[in-house]
Amino acid sequence: MSVYHRPVMISECLELLALRPGKIYVDATLGGGGHALAMLEHEPQIKLYAFDRDIDAIKEAEATLQDHHAVLIQANFKDLRTQLAYHKVSGIDGILFDLGVSSHQLDETERGFSFDRDAELDMRMDRESEMTARKIVNEYSVDELKKIFREYGEEQAAGRIARAIERSREKQPIKSTLELAGVIESVVGVGSKESLKTKVRVFQALRICVNDELAALSSALNDAINLLNPEGRIVVMSYHSLEDRIVKNMFKLAEQDCICPPVIIQCVCSHKSTLKVLTRRPRSATDEEIQTNVRSRSAKLRAAEKKRGKR
Ligand SMILES: C[S@@+](CC[C@H](N)C(=O)[O-])C[C@H]1O[C@@H](n2cnc3c(N)ncnc32)[C@H](O)[C@@H]1O
Repeated sequence: MSVYHRPVMISECLELLALRPGKIYVDATLGGGGHALAMLEHEPQIKLYAFDRDIDAIKEAEATLQDHHAVLIQANFKDLRTQLAYHKVSGIDGILFDLGVSSHQLDETERGFSFDRDAELDMRMDRESEMTARKIVNEYSVDELKKIFREYGEEQAAGRIARAIERSREKQPIKSTLELAGVIESVVGVGSKESLKTKVRVFQALRICVNDELAALSSALNDAINLLNPEGRIVVMSYHSLEDRIVKNMFKLAEQDCICPPVIIQCVCSHKSTLKVLTRRPRSATDEEIQTNVRSRSAKLRAAEKKRGKR
C-alpha cells in the first residue's frame, strides 16, 4: 500500500458496505485510493464514483486505481448530489466516508497542518479555496476566535488563547505555524502534555473552520441518506468526537418515525424512519491494527442501511 495514506479498518468497511455486483457505490473521501482499491478488488463488478477536494489525492488515486475503472471527481462531498446528477446518477447502493485529512496532507510541511513544522498558516484541503488559517488568525475578532477554539477544538483556554493572538498580531501579523504555536505556548506553557494537547486542539479547530468541515459533513450525510437506494449502506469513519456526534445524531434522526419534541402529544411532523442503524455502538480498530497504524486509534466506524421500500 502506498505511503500516501494507510487506509484504516478496511475489512470492517468492506463487511459493512456489503458490496453487490452491478451496483453503484461512492467513496466520498478518496485520499490515496486505498479504500477504493480494496472495494474494487473485493467486488470488481461495482460502478465506483470517488470524490476528493484535493487535487493531490485525485492524482495519487489515479495511479493507485490504474488497473480498475472508477470515476474520480475533484469536488467537495457537500456537492455530492449535484456532482452525481451531472454523471446521471440519481441513486446509489453504498457510500463510504473516511473523514479528516490524509497522512500525506499532514506530512506535507508546506500545507501548514502541523504545529511542529514551520510553514505558512494555510491548512486548506483544496488549495483553490479562499479561506486560509492565516486569514482567520489575523482577521477574525477575539470573540470569533474564542468561539472557533471552543466549538471546534473543545478548548478550555479558548478565550486566553484568542486574546494572546490579538496581542501578538497587534505587533505584527502571525504568518507561520511555529509563530502560532509560540503564541499558544505563551498561554499554556512549553513541553507539558497539556501544552501539546492544546496545540492539537487549536490547530484542529482552525483546520475544521478553514475547510468548513462540519457543515459539509452534515449536508453530505443528509444528501447521501436521501440518495441511497433501498438496502443501500452508508459507512462513516470519523476521528474526533464532533464528527462522530454529527454522524450518530443524523443516523438516529433518520431512524426515527416521529421527530416532534416530546411536549407534542399528537405527531405533527409526519417524519418516517428511512434508515436502520447497523452499529449501535461505533466500531473501533483492533489492537493489532492500532499497533501497526497509529492513526486507526481514534477511528470510530458507524454504518446504517436504507430500509426497504424507502427512497
Ligand atoms: C482520511 S483521508 C481518506 C483516505 C482514503 N480513505 C484512503 O484510503 O487513502 C480523507 C480525504 O478526504 C478528503 N476530504 C476531506 N473532506 C472532504 C470534503 N468535504 N470533500 C471532499 N474530500 C474531502 C481529504 O482531502 C482527504 O484526502
